[in-house]
Amino acid sequence: MFKVYFATSNKGKFLEVKRLAEAFSLQVEQAPIKGVEIQHESLAEIASQAVRQAYRKLKAPVMVEDAGLFIEALNGFPGPYSSYVYRKLGVQGILKLMEGERNRRAWFLSALAFKAPKMKVKVFLGRVDGEIVLQARGRKGFGFDPIFQPEGEKRTFAEMEPEEKNRFSHRGKALAELAEWLKKRGYI
Ligand code: IMP
Repeated sequence: MFKVYFATSNKGKFLEVKRLAEAFSLQVEQAPIKGVEIQHESLAEIASQAVRQAYRKLKAPVMVEDAGLFIEALNGFPGPYSSYVYRKLGVQGILKLMEGERNRRAWFLSALAFKAPKMKVKVFLGRVDGEIVLQARGRKGFGFDPIFQPEGEKRTFAEMEPEEKNRFSHRGKALAELAEWLKKRGYI
């Protein structure tokens, strides 16, 4: 099986990706590398810089993912600042910002950057549309999962099993793109 490192310190993310990757014949190993995460408006740029740093240390196929929650009524906030906002305001903080707001539209974006020997960094994107619910529901998943309900669903991500979330999550889509690309090039 093709082995790829996943440089992340987020256990929730790692478990989601590992589970999904197995279905694509990809063996994912966690590389808990702490790099300096740049502040940038583009998730793709953040992930690309981070994967370059990780590759310098590992010298082996590696991927890094940067994701964010974009809320339409807040002009896309918190977007690339999602992890900071999650730490400072949490799920309840977002619900407070959204109090009285009728437009609940939101989406998650994932930028998955991949680097292997003798190739340039490649970035794969995934997006899932949905809405910010009125009250947090569910205990599974991580981050903003309890307040995000994907389109066509009556449950939040935090009310789903990881397999179900993966089926339509931003991260699942980006990983599927990477797997397809690896397949075309004969890596898997
Ligand atoms: P980062 O990609 O590690 O910078 O994380 C971005 C932040 O966005 C995380 O800390 C979470 O709060 C949030 N986030 C990203 N992906 C998800 C997801 O799948 N579910 C819930 N929250 C997420």
